[in-house]
Amino acid sequence: MDDHLYDEENFTSNKIDWNVWKKIFSFMKPLKKQVLLSIFCMIVLASTDVIYPYISKFAIDGIINPNLEAGTRDLSQLGYFIILYVIFMVIQATMVYLFIIFAGKVQTELAFNIRQKAFTHLQELPFSYYDRTRVGWIMARMTSDSRNLSEILSWGVIDFTWGLFLMVILIIVMLIINLKLALITIAIVPILMLVSTYFRKFILKAYRSIRKVNSKITGAYNEGITGAITTKTLVLENSNYDDFNLLTTDIRKQSIRAAMIQGLYFPSVIFLISIATALIYYNGGNMVFNLSISVGTLYLFTNYVWQFFDPVNNIASIFAQFQQAQASAERIVSLIESEPDITDSEEVTEKYGSLFDYKLENFEPLKGDVEFKNVTFKYHVGEKVLDNFNLSVKQGESIALVGHTGAGKSTIVNLICRFYEPTTGVITIDGVDYKNRSMSWLHSNLGYVLQSPHLFSGSVMENIRYGKLTATDEEVIEAAKQVEAHDFIIQFEKGYETECGEGGSRLSVGQKQLISFARAILANPRILILDEATSSVDTETEQLIQNAINKLLKGRTSFIVAHRLSTIVHSDRILVLEDGKVIEEGSHRDLIAKKGQYYDLYTNQYSEEMLELSIQ
Ligand SMILES: Nc1ncnc2c1ncn2[C@@H]1O[C@H](COP(=O)(O)OP(=O)(O)OP(=O)(O)O)[C@@H](O)[C@H]1O
Ligand SMILES: [Mg+2]
Repeated sequence: MDDHLYDEENFTSNKIDWNVWKKIFSFMKPLKKQVLLSIFCMIVLASTDVIYPYISKFAIDGIINPNLEAGTRDLSQLGYFIILYVIFMVIQATMVYLFIIFAGKVQTELAFNIRQKAFTHLQELPFSYYDRTRVGWIMARMTSDSRNLSEILSWGVIDFTWGLFLMVILIIVMLIINLKLALITIAIVPILMLVSTYFRKFILKAYRSIRKVNSKITGAYNEGITGAITTKTLVLENSNYDDFNLLTTDIRKQSIRAAMIQGLYFPSVIFLISIATALIYYNGGNMVFNLSISVGTLYLFTNYVWQFFDPVNNIASIFAQFQQAQASAERIVSLIESEPDITDSEEVTEKYGSLFDYKLENFEPLKGDVEFKNVTFKYHVGEKVLDNFNLSVKQGESIALVGHTGAGKSTIVNLICRFYEPTTGVITIDGVDYKNRSMSWLHSNLGYVLQSPHLFSGSVMENIRYGKLTATDEEVIEAAKQVEAHDFIIQFEKGYETECGEGGSRLSVGQKQLISFARAILANPRILILDEATSSVDTETEQLIQNAINKLLKGRTSFIVAHRLSTIVHSDRILVLEDGKVIEEGSHRDLIAKKGQYYDLYTNQYSEEMLELSIQ
């Protein structure tokens, strides 16, 4: 099943999948220069690492060697030695400085490129994608996965280049100097490689399971804290505590295991290298006695054998990291490549432009006739919500949708907005199947206030202005006045500059809805859709909302989903829905006279309201 409700465990392949990496590497293309420069720095750095002990070898053989014949010893050469040493040190420091700059740039730019690409793609994906994908999953891709990838592709690649070149240069230099000693030293590399890879794998595995338990603990924390009140009222503290205890004991065991494995790794490596060193001393020592090599050369080899350790260790850990990062890479690619199932066809895009670059000059004016013709609809999961649904609405008509929860009211308005498309059948606007017009054409003529009014982070002013980005402050305030939001907005300490985002929770649902109304009316749309918030609103705000709605509707085709029936008494046509079917239809007066479902709903709500009033 093409389901995007992915879990971490779904992505844990062990083989390196080059197809996926090729796609991720393509994000590095604009950074080619920095990557090449940092690789160059690493090659220079690896060379200086090999040269250092070589300088010492000359110092030992040419200056310090006690066997030098009298007269040939020239201590003034020590000065040259020091100068040379300093020169290489400066080169090395410069390279380190440069590669940190280049790699840092690669890392940040890469993360930025990945996030930007993913973000743009997310804008194009329809509602249905978000039904199938948890927001948490998307957030994790945007944050930790893109961070993981940019880290391994910057520092990882650099470490790898350094390690690889250091080993290659070391091997070449050793082979040139002394074949036998070189072979002894090189023989240790594969063993070192095996041991390192083996341990790396275990260490990573251990840390991975620690991370898993850790995220469970975070989840438990979260639940324990955010659900504290519910827990307390249900007297679940004890069972919560036991769960938590189990998890923390688990993580303690795992951490100890990880530390033990890591503790074993270094002694094993040192043991191996010491054996190689002993072999070099044994063989090389004899050669020194035979005068076939100098003391300096022996020193060089004992030094080089230790130098192998860092690159081998680095490369092993990078391979392991790559394997781990592959899961991140796969998830990012799957996000970026997820196909939107609602898009404009090629011909439509050709004529009207894309979502981000539309050709306004080709947009036909929208009148506002809306028709559902034999529309059947089901969500990604679940049963058919609409089955052969028909509805014809004339320009300027105001339609109200009422019915019990789950009747299909929001589904109908979502279909009109083309957040979803009919599974079969067509929806026409001004007599044309809306799939033959662009999404941007529809949305530039459509104002909607959704069931859970969403305000963006930013000020009230900015939030209303989303309706028409070119609106002046005066136009924004005018729109707010029209929907009677102005009065409560100016009562805020900061007025129109009040923050709506995270810190804006002091806005009530009703106030949020009124701000959304202002946003909708500012756009001056031909079709207006209001999906009323279900949560209760105080009577004063309710009155405001009602007045606002009446103003909003004038001269537009409108669809109102109402929970408070008092809001819709003036609608031209009221549709009573049940299980996706219209079971009653007519004006408020007609339906009341009919004494059917609507009458029951209305009188029920009316008596409830009266009851509430009498209790107050
Ligand atoms: N995103 C979705 N994915 C799957 N099923 C959905 C989705 N949204 C709604 N449904 C289902 O479709 C049916 C109609 O839901 P809809 O939201 O249209 O009802 P509603 O009349 O707006 O109800 P309410 O008064 O509670 O807002 C319900 O059975 C619901 O479970
Ligand atoms: Mg609804």
